[in-house]
Amino acid sequence: MSEVSNLQNVTVAGPDATVHPIDPGIGRHPDPLALVIFGASGDLAHRKILPALAQLAERGSLPDNFAIVGVARSEWSDEEFRELCKKAAPSSSSATWERLVEGFRYVSGDYGDDTTFATLATVLREIDKERGTSGNRIYYLATIPALFGTVACSLAEHGGNEPAEGGSFARLVVEKPFGSDLESAKKLDAELHKAFREDQIFRIDHYMGKETVQNVLALRFANSIFEPIWNRRYVDHVQVTVAESIGVEHRGGFYETAGALRDIVQNHVMQVLSLTLMEPPSSMDAGGIRDEKVKLLRSVLIPDLDEAVNNVVRAQYARGVVDAREVPGYREEEGVDPNSQTETFVAMLLLVDNWRWAGVPIYVRTGKRLAKRATEVSMVFQRPPHLPFAGKLARDLRPDTLTLRIQPDEGIALSFGAKVPGPAFRVRTVAMDFSYAEAFPGGTADAYERLLLDAMTGDATLFIRSDEVDQAWEIVAPIQRAFLDGEPPLAHYRAGSWGPIEADRLIEGGGRQWRNP
Ligand code: BG6
Repeated sequence: MSEVSNLQNVTVAGPDATVHPIDPGIGRHPDPLALVIFGASGDLAHRKILPALAQLAERGSLPDNFAIVGVARSEWSDEEFRELCKKAAPSSSSATWERLVEGFRYVSGDYGDDTTFATLATVLREIDKERGTSGNRIYYLATIPALFGTVACSLAEHGGNEPAEGGSFARLVVEKPFGSDLESAKKLDAELHKAFREDQIFRIDHYMGKETVQNVLALRFANSIFEPIWNRRYVDHVQVTVAESIGVEHRGGFYETAGALRDIVQNHVMQVLSLTLMEPPSSMDAGGIRDEKVKLLRSVLIPDLDEAVNNVVRAQYARGVVDAREVPGYREEEGVDPNSQTETFVAMLLLVDNWRWAGVPIYVRTGKRLAKRATEVSMVFQRPPHLPFAGKLARDLRPDTLTLRIQPDEGIALSFGAKVPGPAFRVRTVAMDFSYAEAFPGGTADAYERLLLDAMTGDATLFIRSDEVDQAWEIVAPIQRAFLDGEPPLAHYRAGSWGPIEADRLIEGGGRQWRNP
């Protein structure tokens, strides 16, 4: 597969350039193709995949010769599936999506049953004739993860791992979670690789589709002022916060088997961290960026068992108030064991053992039912080597900090000390703030739109390679083992707070403080 990457075609717009509503497809138009969604009647298809495709249709980014085949166990007709697809249309919808939907098909069947795959192969051949989809295929695995391997192998048995006649590609898009630990991730990969080559597999982590996550690359490598200070000589420590105000919603049963470590840290946090801390890539293509990401992950020190207990906090939310509304505790949520030990919050100290970051503490925290939804990375800089100010002023000066706000209120803020006007010499922390919404009023595309379009055009840059997945599991493995042994003891926090006191102690032990967004 070619290593073509949309990130290589960088154009520079002047400050006065007219800003158009964002078009994730500028300059890119996928070839004709049929997209097969396994798990088509499920939550992900309904909430994310179909609306993203409808939005792409709206923007004119889908090929004219395009069709979706939904596959699921629900006994639906083509018409019922089309109705579901129509509901995914954006409110400002034109006729484009509706016109496309008329050609969509649905295959009802069991994933363990060979007939399902034989029927699918027939339907795809019909679609090639009717809709001109030219033998190109994308298979999107949005089923429960336990079925990923089975579906991939059954597809291959029916020739689905090769482009059909006249086609040039067959790709497999795989949703997270990729396994539940290192061993199961390797097993899943071995199954997928029996059927598809690595360059055909597109593993989604939707954080990589977020504009502001990609902006980390622009900030670091399209400017000259940040990179010289992006290292242990200037940075005192790094903080990563992935805070959610929602609870487990209707996913209690799933969350019981996941917990915050698997649900967020192993994937989203590791992705954000690797982009933020990696070395400059030799090129912005899929190989260049992913090589550097995995190199960074390999430099993260794997904690030993003691460190996994002492440098990690795990906690669970108790009842509380979020957005002025009383909310139940985790153990009272539907589908959750009333004695559950599953963590809904994790905080940890990581170290990256390489030339650039040796000795710089990286503090990470994530949790559900926290005070607000906010994902941020902060580079907290060292204090000046000498403060020529007297007593209190010197003590109260806060360190300069560069904060990348990934969501919501996307932007970048640099906070530093400035003199308060007046005869006394007083210094206060102020901020220079760049806001995405102000600079680019057209808005940003949803992460799924971006990633679906990338998969359709064969750009794997923002997808996760198998060595990245494995390395991320390696890092969390000792922590998983400690959790299984009930260590560190499960702490509790009030819903609507910033997490347990233990998380404050973790960072305060190093003489630092969390920056609450
Ligand atoms: C998903 C997790 O991967 O990410 C969810 O499974 C979480 O538990 C979600 O709520 C958060 O995504 P976002 O885009 O809202 O930050």
